[in-house]
Amino acid sequence: MEHREKYPLIQIRLHWIVFLLVICTYAAVWLAKYGLHNYPSLAHPIWLLHYFLGAMVFLFTCVRFVVQKLLQKHIPYIDPPIPLWQYILSTTLKIVLVVIYWVIPLAGYLYRCKSGFSLDLYFRTFHARCDVDPTAGQFWHTIHVSCAYTALGLIAIHAGFAIWNHRVRKNNMLRRMMPPCHKCG
Ligand code: HEM
Ligand code: HEM
Repeated sequence: MEHREKYPLIQIRLHWIVFLLVICTYAAVWLAKYGLHNYPSLAHPIWLLHYFLGAMVFLFTCVRFVVQKLLQKHIPYIDPPIPLWQYILSTTLKIVLVVIYWVIPLAGYLYRCKSGFSLDLYFRTFHARCDVDPTAGQFWHTIHVSCAYTALGLIAIHAGFAIWNHRVRKNNMLRRMMPPCHKCG
């Protein structure tokens, strides 16, 4: 690892883009399912937004994974360093976050496909190409929803750990992931 103050800009951008996409994906599904359930014609485009944003989360998580691997050696040190066990746990959590944001959209897609529904992503509609199997559809629905709510808990732990390091330990963990501030000198 070389000494630098922040993550490479591309990694910072990808991290916060995925964060925004994830927030909007949850907001869309809650709006469609709970806010607009009495207005099907309004809820429909919001459901499509949920599928589209969910697919973007999958895509950007793939891009970010590749970029992360390519730029591994440019990741800055945490200063002052954190104990090894915390480093191992927080790194494991980051890996789980990547995997879970692959599993959630894939399970959402398989739920739709196995239930015989098409998947409209605005630019293209994917018609069910798998064998329709309502039991398998129900299985993927359970995976989709339970992983989506588990992931919210994992994000809270991940963000809480970063904020705790920033506020209590006063190390550079969070600053490394913040966009550069030109006015800060
Ligand atoms: C990271 C991406 C995604 C997240 C975080 C996410 C999150 C969620 C959550 C939290 C729910 C449950 C709402 C509730 O019942 O309280 C849900 C439902 C649903 N999601 Fe996703 N989703 C994602 C991607 C997708 C994708 C790509 C698809 C479609 C291909 C999809 C299709 C669905 C469907 C059809 C439901 C409704 C299930 C039902 O009617 O009970 N989701 N999603
Ligand atoms: C959708 C929500 C989030 C996901 C999926 C996520 C995922 C990740 C991943 C995979 C990394 C490893 C570096 C990379 O590949 O970019 C990371 C690093 C980091 N994230 Fe998040 N993150 C999320 C939200 C947040 C939030 C809300 C905060 C802060 C309040 C935060 C703070 C950080 C920090 C400080 C690092 C660098 C930590 C280190 O190097 O030890 N993240 N995040």
